[in-house]
Formats: sequence, structure tokens, C-alpha cells
Amino acid sequence: MDEEAGHATKPQRRRIMFAAGACAVGGGALFLSQQHNATRSWPHGTPLKVDIAGLPEGKLKTVEWQGKPVWILRRRPGEIAALQKGGEALADADSRESLQPPYTRNALRSLRPEIFVAIGLCTHQGCTPALNGDHFLCPCHTSRYDLAGRVFKVGPAQANLVIPAYRFDGDNTLIVGEDT
Ligand code: FES
Repeated sequence: MDEEAGHATKPQRRRIMFAAGACAVGGGALFLSQQHNATRSWPHGTPLKVDIAGLPEGKLKTVEWQGKPVWILRRRPGEIAALQKGGEALADADSRESLQPPYTRNALRSLRPEIFVAIGLCTHQGCTPALNGDHFLCPCHTSRYDLAGRVFKVGPAQANLVIPAYRFDGDNTLIVGEDT
């Protein structure tokens, strides 16, 4: 599956809704968190190659990987600068408790400043947040995340978005599922 936000085909929508819906009733989110708590390892799996050459600034692309939506956002320079300022409103600004690869343990939570990659499932109960200007907003219980997937204190979710293993192969190819 390869879509830009809002343009999934019906089967793609069904698969993503299934993943989000299962989590929304609690089971999926529980499974995700239990799995992560048990291993404390960020998600790995069969590598998925994604062409990001045509992804414009400010656009979110969603691909399906391991039955979950993986987001790829090309952040604008102004958005990158804003993320590097203070994080008093964030629950885990330094991502100390977050599930993510060590090579993304920085202010932008990414390998490259402009490309943000994360699993697009709310860490509360697994709904799919939406890009809403300078943040992601979860429609279920209004948790908010910044453009590095760091959760704001207001709202029930208290863990940042999970970041899977990923690496780049050249300038325009992203490999999801494998470490760099
Ligand atoms: S699932 Fe509850 S805020 Fe996202």
C-alpha cells in the first residue's frame, strides 16, 4: 500500500481501519504496548522499500507495514526549527520513555531532519491521528503530538509515537523495518 494522506484505495482503507479499529477497542493497543514492554525493542520486520522522491514539503505519506500504518512526513524548515525549541508542554520531550531506535534519539526523533517516520497509531488506544497543521490530533480522545511524534501533556496519551527501525538507501529510498 502506498498512499498520500486521504487518497487510500478502498482495500487499503479497510486494512488501515482494521488495524486502527482493533486498537481502538483496546486489544490492539494493549498488544502493541505489551509487545514493546516485553522486549523494549523498537519494531523490526520484513523490509519495505518506499520511494520518497516525490514527497513534497508538508505532506504526509502513509504506507502499510506489518499491518500498521507507517507515516512519512517531509517537514518544512520552519517546522524543524520550531521542534528544536523548548518542550515544557510535552510529556516526554527527550523521549526517555519512548519506543524508538537509538539513532532517532534526538530532538527531531529522526535520522534526517526533514524526514519524520513513525507508526501512525495513537499510544492511548490505537486510533489513527490526523495531521492538523503543526501537530497530529487523535480524533478519539483528543491527544496531540508534535511533528516529531512527541505527545503533549494534555490528553490521555502519555507516550510518544512509536518509531520503527528504518534506514535510507540513497537520497530517495526509505527502507522501513531495518536498522541503519
Ligand atoms: S486513542 Fe485515545 S486519544 Fe488517541
